[in-house]
Amino acid sequence: MQVKPQEPKAVQIREMFSRIAPRYDLLNHLLSLNIDRHWRRVTVGLLAPVLARPEAKVLDVCCGTADLALALGRRARARIIGVDFSHPMLVTARRKAERHERNVGLAEGDALRLPFSESEFDAVTIAFGLRNLVDREAGLNELHRMLKPRGSVAILEFSQPAFPLFRQLFGLYFQFILPRIGGAISGSRPAYEYLHDTVQAFPSPASLVRMMQSTGFSEVHYRTLSGGIAALHLGIRA
Ligand SMILES: C[S@@+](CC[C@H](N)C(=O)[O-])C[C@H]1O[C@@H](n2cnc3c(N)ncnc32)[C@H](O)[C@@H]1O
Repeated sequence: MQVKPQEPKAVQIREMFSRIAPRYDLLNHLLSLNIDRHWRRVTVGLLAPVLARPEAKVLDVCCGTADLALALGRRARARIIGVDFSHPMLVTARRKAERHERNVGLAEGDALRLPFSESEFDAVTIAFGLRNLVDREAGLNELHRMLKPRGSVAILEFSQPAFPLFRQLFGLYFQFILPRIGGAISGSRPAYEYLHDTVQAFPSPASLVRMMQSTGFSEVHYRTLSGGIAALHLGIRA
């Protein structure tokens, strides 16, 4: 059954991702020069203790074509579930999961009303998803609600490099080059302009720490990746 987001803006976001789904993986790896794989590997590495537990359950929210869910699955004895509200993204994800991983399941669902029981998961991840939610605080609350007490959250998201020259160069690439290439290959330039705009508007790593703390996460910390292009935030459900 198709998920029906409540907000018109969320419907637009879902349609945008559904349009670019067939070319999403190709563009992700091309536009990031494959660095995105490294970011996912770091995320998986930091969750290694929970992934090693055969009875553990891990939820990857906004899983898209399941790159992170599959990377988690490769290292895990735990059960991994990826959830996303775009059907075409999940079609690609299913194809990949059938080829590679038996311990990865996929579900269609809205990150703001996740179709799972409270406290069901030992860890919850979200990669490049929080930025796209129409209500980020509600999204953080849902991530928190899904976790067992002492469960871990990992939030991987684009950020802004701290070093001024790198920040400027990266800004130019993101604003002018990336939408052209993304638009030409996916046929949807607005999706890649939207990427630039949402990264600009996303809270700084320190602000996200505060938001996570006010949601109820403890032991919140982050590390920047690739000179600050991305940031990985970690926390625990107290
Ligand atoms: C930039 S992609 C990231 C996909 C994947 N996590 C990755 O690392 O490549 C963002 C994904 O979030 C999904 N998404 C956005 N808002 C959502 C929501 N409210 N509920 C579920 N999925 C959502 C989109 O459909 C899209 O697949």
